[in-house]
Formats: sequence, C-alpha cells, structure tokens
Amino acid sequence: MTQANSKKFRVKNYGCQMNVYDGERMSEMLVDQGMSGASDGEEADLVVLNTCHIREKAAEKVYSDIGRLRKKDGSSPMIAVAGCVAQAEGKEISRRAPSVNIVVGPQAYHRLPELIDTAKSGKKALDTDMPTASKFDVLPTRKKQARPSAFLTVQEGCDKFCTYCVVPYTRGAEISRPWSDLVDEAKALVDGGVKEITLLGQNVNAWTGEDRKGASQGLDGLIRALDKIGGLERIRYTTSHPNDMTDALINAHGEIPKLMPYLHLPVQSGSNSILKAMNRSHSRDSYLDVLRRVREARPDIALSGDFIVGFPGETEADFEDTLSIIRETEYSQAYSFKYSPRPGTPAATMDNQLSREVMDERLQRLQALLNEQQHDFNKQLVGRKTDILLERVGKLEGQFVGKTPWLTSVHIVAPNLSIGDMVSVDIESAGPNSLAGQLSERIAA
Ligand code: 5AD
Ligand code: SF4
Repeated sequence: MTQANSKKFRVKNYGCQMNVYDGERMSEMLVDQGMSGASDGEEADLVVLNTCHIREKAAEKVYSDIGRLRKKDGSSPMIAVAGCVAQAEGKEISRRAPSVNIVVGPQAYHRLPELIDTAKSGKKALDTDMPTASKFDVLPTRKKQARPSAFLTVQEGCDKFCTYCVVPYTRGAEISRPWSDLVDEAKALVDGGVKEITLLGQNVNAWTGEDRKGASQGLDGLIRALDKIGGLERIRYTTSHPNDMTDALINAHGEIPKLMPYLHLPVQSGSNSILKAMNRSHSRDSYLDVLRRVREARPDIALSGDFIVGFPGETEADFEDTLSIIRETEYSQAYSFKYSPRPGTPAATMDNQLSREVMDERLQRLQALLNEQQHDFNKQLVGRKTDILLERVGKLEGQFVGKTPWLTSVHIVAPNLSIGDMVSVDIESAGPNSLAGQLSERIAA
C-alpha cells in the first residue's frame, strides 16, 4: 500500500481560529516525525481535515471534500478527520466515508503519530478521548513561524452551555493552560519571528491561572506579562463572553499600548427573551454596559460581534431588537449566521423553529446594516496616519497587505518592504472590506 510510506502531508482547516492553531501544532508534530508539508499543487500522502461542527453546513462540507480526495493514480491518500466533527461523530465518520483511516478529536491530536502507525497496518484508528493529561504537555516546542502574526491557545472548552452551541460537547469543559507554559510559548513564538500574538480560547477572557509567584491571575495579568516580551509588538485576544469582561481586563485596554484597540464580543441577539432562551446569562443592557465601560477605557476601540438570526421563537420584534443593538453599538465588523439546529443541543428540539425563508430575509437585512457600519468604520480612517503590520503580499506587483491596530486590512504598494515590517501609512481610500494607503515611513524594529 502506498499509504505505508506517507511522506508528504497537508492540513486543511475548517472553522475557527482554534482550528488554525491546532492545525499548526499538528503540522509541527508531523514535521518532527520526518514528514514534510506538501506545497501547492503537490500530492499529499496524508491529508488531515481539521473540521468544524458549529453549523450544519460546515460539518457537511467535510464529507463532500472527503469524496474528492484522490491521488493522480486514482488511489486514496491516508485520510485523517480531526477537529470537532471527529469528536461529535466518532466512528460514524468511517461508516459514512469508508476512505477515512483516522478519526481524532481536538483533545487527542497529540496521538496522531501512533494513529498513523495503526492506520498503516490497515486498521481504522479512532481516538476521541478527552484525557485529563494535556496534549500541550507532549506537543513539540514551537518552530520558526512563516508569518509575523501567530495564534496562541490559552484556554479551551466552554462551561456556558448556550442552548444552540455544540462547543461544550465537542471541546469539553473549560480548561486554562498554565501561566509559565504560555509565557514560554509566547517567547518561543517571538524568537521565531512573531510580532503579533492573538490569544485564543472559546471563552478566552475566562482564563485563570497562577503566576510564577503563585498569585492568582486573570487574562489581564497574562497580557501584562506578555507585554514585557521584547520584540512582541501587538497583543490581541478572542473570543470573549460579556460576563467575563472583568474591570481589570477592561482597564487593561486603557493601560497597555501593545493591547490592540479591538474587541470581539459576541452578543448573538439584542432581544432579552431570545438571550434568555439562548441561556446567554447576560441581558441586552448588561452587554451594552460592558461596551460603555470598554469605550470609556479605550475610546478608539473597534468592536466586533457574532449574531445568530432565526433562533427558535424569534419574532419580528425580537429581530428588530437585534438591529437596534447593532445601531446603538456601531460595529467595525461582525459575523452573522442563520441559526442551525445542532444534534444534542437543547435548542434543536425547541418549538417554533423558523422557516428558511424568514431566516434568509432577516440575515440579509442584518448583513446590509453590518456592511454599512463596516464601510463607515473604514471611511473614518481615511486621511489618518496609522501603523500597519505587513502580513502577506498582495495580488499586484510590489503590493503588501497589512493590518491596522483595529484589524482592518490595508493595501500598499511600496518598494523594499518585507512581510513582518511594521510601517506607518497614510490611509487614502476605504472600500467596504479594506483600505488603501501610502507608505509614510518605516518604523525601526
Ligand atoms: N447556529 C448558528 N450559529 C451558531 N453559532 C454557534 N452555534 C450556532 C448555531 N447552532 C455561532 C455563534 C458563535 C459563533 C462562533 O458561531 O454566533 O458565537
Ligand atoms: Fe458556545 Fe456559548 Fe460557549 Fe460561546 S459561550 S462556545 S456560544 S456555549
């Protein structure tokens, strides 16, 4: 079997940034095993599909992608399904898609090398355990990074049990990674060329730990520790729950220049009765109060959110409440989704599931408003000078794409620049999704 000599691998990520992080860690582990990443267009012997189960569409896409995985000679590469579909569907996956060799959940992917060995012997390999010992203890140390902006998972899992959400079931209970592991990993990333770190967690602002002196710390304390790492220029975190926005974290936004003026704080709905049915455990007013205090601490902060339209029982009046909370907040950008019933969640069996037509129509109205706000946010940056971190090359000759502190993309064309440079630009024009600017100066590293 050609599968016995898996040498090249490819990891395909679906869904959230946690999967991007997990995908990077799996890649680093496979490289440690002597394999190498397949370049674009190159055939892979092992394909890892790092899946997402949050909405039906994301979960179904995996199966159609599996069906298309063929080598040039018509044989199948070794296929590993990782991530949240693996956790939720387990053995069912290889029943539905017999070409799948390995199924590995998000808490077990450090065992991938052993699972590959099992699969090489012709057996199906399955590991969806949620072991108490952490995968982080056995993963190899971080390698030199290709990009200047890196993710760092600090917290995983969720204890909130919003009634629509699979995360508490697929990612398990909330755990916080230890302080010293995180500070060490952040230093390793910076040594490997990283200038911006985004701290990740399903409930990142619920992170708790003890510093090296044994004192209790929250996310603000961890951010303050990372702030001291020379060479690290920008710190972000996502995703937060409104109830875990402590005063200390809010104040950190006003006090730590490296902490970027951007906050992703999902509200999901502007209607109190829907928030209650969602088990969000915050109200419209308590959410707005958090935003008021965040803006007091950091007046220029850009706000982002997540919205679900068409939750069971959502009336036109409930939906209008969501539009009005958006008008009141003025988001710089946001993510919005049609409610998708997920097996095993309480909302999936609630009465009053809405029709697709109602959901489509509401989503269109909501997105029109969010797009308008995003464009307005972009327009008010025109004429301003700001720093951008160059993250990738653009499509045009000599073009680079960088991010502002507010996470907007800026296109610039300038000679002698490199990815990872921090440059000052004058913003000249604003489109709905990005800005264009001129180099005003390079900032000494
Ligand atoms: N249907 C639609 N959207 C969902 N989300 C989570 N679960 C569902 C669901 N069942 C959205 C929420 C969450 C984001 C990551 O995905 O808005 O914040
Ligand atoms: Fe899901 Fe709610 Fe937890 Fe977010 S807070 S991961 S939406 S259960």
